[in-house]
Formats: sequence, C-alpha cells, structure tokens
Amino acid sequence: MSTNPLSEFGSVAAVAPATDQWATLIGGTQQVPAGLPDPAMLARMANEFFSTVSGAQPPAAGALVPAIPMSLVSVPPAGVAPPAVPVAWQPPATGVQAGAGAIDSTSAHELSFLQEIRPRYPEPEETAAALRAFLESPGEPVPAVAERSTQQAPAVPTPPMPTVPGGFDSSAVPAFSFLEEARPLFSLSPVAPVPVPVTTSSQPEPPPLKLSSDLFDAQTIRRDFPLLREQVNGRPLVWLDNAATTQKPQSVIDRLSYFYEHENSNVHRAAHEMAARATDAYESAREKVRRFLNASTPREIIFVRGATEGINLVAQSWGRRYVEKDDEIVITWLEHHANIVPWQALCSEKQARLRVAPVDDRGQVILEEYEKLLGPKTRLVSIAQVSNALGTVTPLPAMIEAAHRHGAKVLVDGAQAVSHMRADVQALDCDFYVFSGHKVFAPTGIGVVYGKSEILDSMPPWQGGGNMIQDVTFERTLYNPPPSRFEAGTGNIADAVGLGAAIDYLDHVGMANISRYEHELLAYGTAALERVPGLRIIGTAAEKAGVLSFVLDGVRTEEVGDLLNREGIAVRAGHHCAQPIHRRFGIESTVRASLALYNTCSDIDALAAALLRIQTARPGRGV
Ligand SMILES: Cc1ncc(COP(=O)(O)O)c(C=O)c1O
Repeated sequence: MSTNPLSEFGSVAAVAPATDQWATLIGGTQQVPAGLPDPAMLARMANEFFSTVSGAQPPAAGALVPAIPMSLVSVPPAGVAPPAVPVAWQPPATGVQAGAGAIDSTSAHELSFLQEIRPRYPEPEETAAALRAFLESPGEPVPAVAERSTQQAPAVPTPPMPTVPGGFDSSAVPAFSFLEEARPLFSLSPVAPVPVPVTTSSQPEPPPLKLSSDLFDAQTIRRDFPLLREQVNGRPLVWLDNAATTQKPQSVIDRLSYFYEHENSNVHRAAHEMAARATDAYESAREKVRRFLNASTPREIIFVRGATEGINLVAQSWGRRYVEKDDEIVITWLEHHANIVPWQALCSEKQARLRVAPVDDRGQVILEEYEKLLGPKTRLVSIAQVSNALGTVTPLPAMIEAAHRHGAKVLVDGAQAVSHMRADVQALDCDFYVFSGHKVFAPTGIGVVYGKSEILDSMPPWQGGGNMIQDVTFERTLYNPPPSRFEAGTGNIADAVGLGAAIDYLDHVGMANISRYEHELLAYGTAALERVPGLRIIGTAAEKAGVLSFVLDGVRTEEVGDLLNREGIAVRAGHHCAQPIHRRFGIESTVRASLALYNTCSDIDALAAALLRIQTARPGRGV
C-alpha cells in the first residue's frame, strides 16, 4: 500500500559479503559483488602508492605489502608502471622488514586512511600461516582464521608514512574513498542496538534567564528584546510583524552563544564530554517542548525545521500510508498554504479528495457546514488553531470531537497560536500538533511535530539517513522508534536548545498573563483602527488572537506597508501565504499588524496615527 521510497529500503542492488565470506571471496572462488572494491584494484593501488614513496623501491621479496592474493592482481594498462608485488611471502621477523622499501613508522599517524589498513601489515602468526598456505596453493580457499583478539595481538608497528617526493602530484593519489567503503567489511559484526541514553554531563547548568522583571509588564518585557531598541528611518522601531516572525529575548540569544561556546558537538553518537553536553541540552529542549505542549512523553516530540516541514512530514509519512483512493481530507478556508499544498499534493497522488470547510463573513468556521463534510471517507482533518491572515481562533474542541466521531485523525497547525495561548495537546485530544520555533521567540529553522505515541509508532520514516536507524545492512534497515525515526541526519541542535530557552522565557512570563494582556491589546488596537477613515478590518471573529488585518480605501496594501516603514513601523502587506481566504473576502491582500507580548498601546497609537496621516495626506482627503 505504501509508496514511500523508504519502505523499500529492504532491497538494494549491491550486496556485501558477510565478514566471514570475505576469505572465500579473496580466495578467488567468487566474483566481487557490484559496488565493492576489487581486491586486485586494492593491490594495484596500494603498490602504486608505495612506489611513490620517497626512496622506496618496489618491495623486495619478503617485504610486507597488503595481503592481497597475487592471483587476483590484474595486468596494468599500457603506460602504467607494473605494480610491484611480492613474489614470495616471508613471515615478518621483527615487525617491519629491513632493506629496500623498509618502512619508516615514525609518522604513520598522520595518514588516517592507513589506520584502517594498519593491522594488515604485521599479521599474527596464525593469520600469516593461513596466508602462506594460500599463497603456496593458489586457488584453494583461504582457511578460516580465528578472529584477531586485541589481547593476543602482537604490538602493532605503525605502518609506513610515505614522505612525498618533490614534484609528486598528490592529486594523482586516489582519495582512497574505497577504503571508507570497505570499512564495514573489516569491522565487527553489528552489536544489538540499544536506546540512546540521555547522558548526564559534568557541565554545570547554563546560566539562569536574565530578565528585566519578574512581573508581567510589557514595557519592562521589551527590555529583554534587544532588537526592539533599533531605530528605523530615524524612528524607534515598532515591530508589528509578529505573525511572520517574532523577536528573540536576550536569554535565547545568550543560550545560543552558550551552546556554541561550551556545548557544541553532534549529539547521541559519541562518548566524549561535548557530545554528552550537547545531547543533554538537545534532549532537555525536547522535554521542555513536551511540557510546553503537555504531551505525555518526549517520544511524542519530533524536531523539524518548522510548521511547514511538520505538516509535510505527516503528509508524507502518515498520509502516504493511510490515505487511499477516494478518501477525504478536510481543511478550512482559513488555512495557510503550508496547510493546503501538502494535502493537495497527497490527494492528487492518491486520488483522494480535499474538502474545505467554509467560513462566515467574520471569518469564523461554520460548524454545521464543517460537520456536513465529515463522513466515513474522512481520513484527516487539518486545521489552524489561529488563522494567520485573520486572527480567527478556530473552535478546536468541537471540530476535533466531530472528526474523531467519524474516525478521522486531526492535525492542528499551531503556528499562530503558540505565542498567544496555552497549547495543551492532551486537553485538545488532537493527533498531531505542529508549530515553528521562530513564531514563539525561538530561532528560525527549528519546529516541532507532536504526534500521539501509538500513531507515530505506526508511521514509516519519511527521510532516510543517519540518526534514524538501529541497524543497517545492504539488505535492509531497521529504524529507530520515534522520535528519532523521523529525525534523519544531523538536526538543528543549537536552535532546538534555543527553542528550549524560549519556552523557559514564556514559562517565566506565564502564558495566561500573555493571553490576558494580548486580548486587551487586541481590543485596544481594534478600536483604534476603527477610528481611521476608510479602513476596513478583515476578520472580525468573536474569538481572535494577535492579528489586525485591514485594507485602506484607495491605497494599495504594498503602498501602506511602505509608508508605514518610513515611520519605522513594520507590518506585512500581501496575501500572507493564505490566498484562498483573501479571495473569500473579494480581495487579494491586506495590511497585517500582528501582536506579541512586547507590543504596547504606544505601538498601536503609532500605527493608528500613521494611518491617519496616510489617509489625510491623500488628495481630496486633507483636513
Ligand atoms: C498558520 C500557519 N501555518 C504554517 C505556517 C508556516 O510556518 P513556517 O513558515 O515557519 O514553516 C505559518 C507561517 O506563517 C502560519 O502562519
């Protein structure tokens, strides 16, 4: 049923021999599988390499070269010096052979690729005997050799460190990437994967939040946001573009610097202290997000780039597995393009149907019409909690309850909600919840998908790579459980930590305080804008958060945006990536002023006064 390419991971073209088959392979009884280095080539390249060593002669009889059977060494092409190969093998006397081509082991550590082939130089007597037997009777399979034990192994002299002769063109030396490829063949069999423990590093806790006040007061809160002290066009900046992105408190900026100064490392995969610190910081950010959303376990929290990537993750993974021909996905007219396009693409791929719940003239979802769209074919309802274009707060509890009654899953796009109101995924009982860090005072490039455990467990990965696997062979891949199954590759570690710091900040201020304050500010702003002649507010839902969108009679929205910018006021003019809802109101764009906890009545006054000036300055409107 699934068309996810990752579900086909099990079949790959090139099949590597298991380690214990390698001896048979080099014994010449099998063809080298496609995609693996040819042992003859290995021998040729190694010999070519050593022939370039300063003062080196082709190894004399008895000199040690990589243990590649002669029978597999192919004839070099014309014009290439024939490879120097051992004509007979002698066991090493005391590690390194003396004489022509003798090995200077002093600086061997400088060639990292040689580390991989180092053990092949002095073989334990047991191995040497096996190889000797093989060389004496070519064609016979190499007898099995006991695994090399590190305890019994003789002291390993360091392999040769060639000094590059003058005039030697190092670009002619292959990068030996094939050795990288061959590495797994020489390593131990995979160990059973274990869950990555959350490490405890010895690093002291990062510094506490530096806040200007413990009390909620927008004037003092502003001091925590350095960018708000900027001047634009000679005026103090008035930042009213919060729906596009929010400014960052000093504590988030400091936390990012602290991470890079004291904790930076990749996470999960190393034993060293920095990896422990970075892993602690990253996983503790996940725990903060869990608390922020009231998810029941951090396993339900997946880090992504943002809300857009989060919705795409659900569409590609859950959607491709569970949506079939003639199924239906329900959204509303209010949605951001990020909550339209991925579903449209999925529907077109699966021959499913996208259905859209209408809104009334105030921009409120018409619940009765929404309910009519639900039925046995409904697989998913995907809805914004707050509309980015109008500020409408959707009636989630009723919508989620109705969807569940019809057996549909529900995704909530919380991108515009998280900075204004408490998000409680358990109280909402939604199946997925997504948001972007940058809209909630955290850095860009980090976001979150919440998914109910049992649903995430049933979903295939949507991207493949490192970090999301338990075990990989060429035949198949075993995936990690969520969340790391959905976090392929190196994630945005520092910005996840920054998101944790933003959540700390919000916790400190108190989400309930923020909601209450912004509610009053929105009422104040609505009243102020209504006094501007020729201004029409678009979106007048009874339940609104954070957004004041409007059009001005006879002035293009882009022009309004530009005129406001001249006064240092940042608003957004355009369709705000929500064209359908604009067209529902017969317009293509609006001017949008959007609020956050650091905005004040003075910001609103500055906006209203500037709009008044725009209106009165126009010909025929002057006072
Ligand atoms: C409601 C809504 N959903 C999704 C998005 C997409 O967010 P991002 O661009 O951070 O992925 C936005 C961005 O404005 C939004 O407002």
